[in-house]
Amino acid sequence: MKIIKLKTNEEVTKYLAELLLQQIESNPKSVLGLATGSTPTLAYHQLVKKYLVDQTDFSQVITFNLDEYIGIEPENKNSYRSFMNENLFNYININQENTFLPSTDDQNYAKYDDLIKEYGGIDLQILGIGENGHIGFNEPGTKESTLTHKVTLAENTRENNSIFFDSLEDVPKEAVTMGITSILNAKKIILAATKSNKAEIIKRLINNDISENLPASFLKKHPNVIILVDEDSGKYIEEMI
Ligand code: GLP
Repeated sequence: MKIIKLKTNEEVTKYLAELLLQQIESNPKSVLGLATGSTPTLAYHQLVKKYLVDQTDFSQVITFNLDEYIGIEPENKNSYRSFMNENLFNYININQENTFLPSTDDQNYAKYDDLIKEYGGIDLQILGIGENGHIGFNEPGTKESTLTHKVTLAENTRENNSIFFDSLEDVPKEAVTMGITSILNAKKIILAATKSNKAEIIKRLINNDISENLPASFLKKHPNVIILVDEDSGKYIEEMI
């Protein structure tokens, strides 16, 4: 894992957007693995800006999102489909038919991995991290062998994500997420973490061995991973490694 520590949330955001743009410039048909949550949101807005100002072309880009809630319709403002439409897809020239999220209808969730494979695999996967070390919605206890699957959300995850909902009761209890193996199949991975509530888990991620208790630690098995932190989330990390 390569660790890059920048000063501010804004710098992390710009760096993340830059890596995504470089990927698209090097291959306009790139397959991107995208995350939701507050961490990548401003990076997505940077991409919209690049489209509006520099006419960056997204017309051939393919995207696969990490996860989706079970029990809320795609049209619901809190679905991850709506999140992606509202923060990125609706404002760039991407072909909506090339934007995928895991299906919550079909019980054969791992068909999503077959679809990713049909498109040649993910070139660049973006990840955030939960305070409990989850990636996607792979909560502590998730096995390395997992492909896209159904999960029950940890209470701490529901509480953290309730900021996007009217109340905690409205936060779904289940979701479908790409598994650990689905994520490790990506060619390159960037995990971004900002703000001080992520400092403890980033410290554990860097210092601890690989374990199911800390799902993000499986990233240590991947040859091409960047961990991108700001001074708040990286406050226990001495220097750039
Ligand atoms: C959410 C998402 C994850 C995300 C993480 C961190 O539950 N399922 O994909 O990375 O939690 O979210 P945030 O960036 O808002 O801190």
